[in-house]
Amino acid sequence: MSFLYKKLLREVLFQFDPETVHDAMLRSVRSLQNVSAAGRVIELLARAGDFPVTAAGIAFKNPIGLAAGFDKNCEAPRILAKLGFGFLELGTITLRPQTGNPRPRLFRAREHKGIINRMGFNNAGAYEAARRLQRLLPAGVPVGLNIGKNADCPLDDAPRNYLETLKTLYPFGDYFTLNISSPNTLQLRELHRKERLARLVEPALDFINGSAAKKPLFIKIAPDLEHAELKEVAETALKYSLGIIATNTTVKRDHLPEVWRSCEGGLSGLPLRDLSNETLKKLAGLTAGRVPVMGVGGVFDGASAIEKFRLGADLVQVYSGLIYEGPLLVKNILNYMKKTGFSPAKTGEYA
Ligand SMILES: Cc1cc2nc3c(=O)[nH]c(=O)nc-3n(C[C@H](O)[C@H](O)[C@H](O)COP(=O)(O)O)c2cc1C
Repeated sequence: MSFLYKKLLREVLFQFDPETVHDAMLRSVRSLQNVSAAGRVIELLARAGDFPVTAAGIAFKNPIGLAAGFDKNCEAPRILAKLGFGFLELGTITLRPQTGNPRPRLFRAREHKGIINRMGFNNAGAYEAARRLQRLLPAGVPVGLNIGKNADCPLDDAPRNYLETLKTLYPFGDYFTLNISSPNTLQLRELHRKERLARLVEPALDFINGSAAKKPLFIKIAPDLEHAELKEVAETALKYSLGIIATNTTVKRDHLPEVWRSCEGGLSGLPLRDLSNETLKKLAGLTAGRVPVMGVGGVFDGASAIEKFRLGADLVQVYSGLIYEGPLLVKNILNYMKKTGFSPAKTGEYA
């Protein structure tokens, strides 16, 4: 099946503009969501053995999740869950709707198995996301909701902007991610700084702690941090018991030839893998298993997923791998894990 995807379908899809293909694919799977026979067929094709894991107090049937950015508008959680994911992260969602950057804003560095995007949080906004989630959940697997700030919101107002979004979406997510690392929203990465990060997470945690159901909060970090910056982020995560998702896309182009250097945006996929793994390894060392960690960046198969677990990830997410390897990626990863007898070592509970 994956062979057919790569030899036939991918060849056809890659003839067209990446964003047009993505939107068309999402639209078609979205319409299958209400056709139960279609859901069952997809489920049968994508089914693999379970790898039960508990992380951040949530029980997952397996530790492989969909990364944020694939379903920004919470359109297709039910059908995406049928691809075998142990969880889905939807978004990034901002408080108010926004159109994002001008097109073209999504590019395939095909010969390097990379993707560059400068989407800029195009999404229908938190209220529309809440309406959709009300209709489409439960998805059958835990759902994380990834929150960002509106492009026109000044950095000083970011805590309020994120908090309003969190409040609006709170009934619908099993966990929440504060995205502080997209390179496509001006100054967003400034939120990694210690004081700014504390000002961002404190009101969010006050809200969560005052709620009847206390849900885990993650921060999603950049792979481009200096060691001192990473150390500060780790200290903040430990202080506030925040989970960490490592990593978002990179602004570096070290592993790509000259021709891609001037293409602005965040790079993901295979050329991100080493950088993302380095960040994950350092972070796991700094946090020493005391907060939950997700690894994301350049996972294309079972071996690269296992590498993330070995470096300290409790859960792993994929995005670019789905585009290059096809919709049976999760099944292939889980089958490989089973074949090699690998089991994610850490299945601890975190406060
Ligand atoms: C087209 C595209 C859009 C993305 N949008 C988001 C987003 O909205 N929010 C976010 O946190 N990450 C976003 N990401 C980053 C991914 O979630 C992931 O962190 C990154 O791509 C590395 O994983 P990968 O190498 O498996 O793609 C996006 C990635 C791509 C390729």
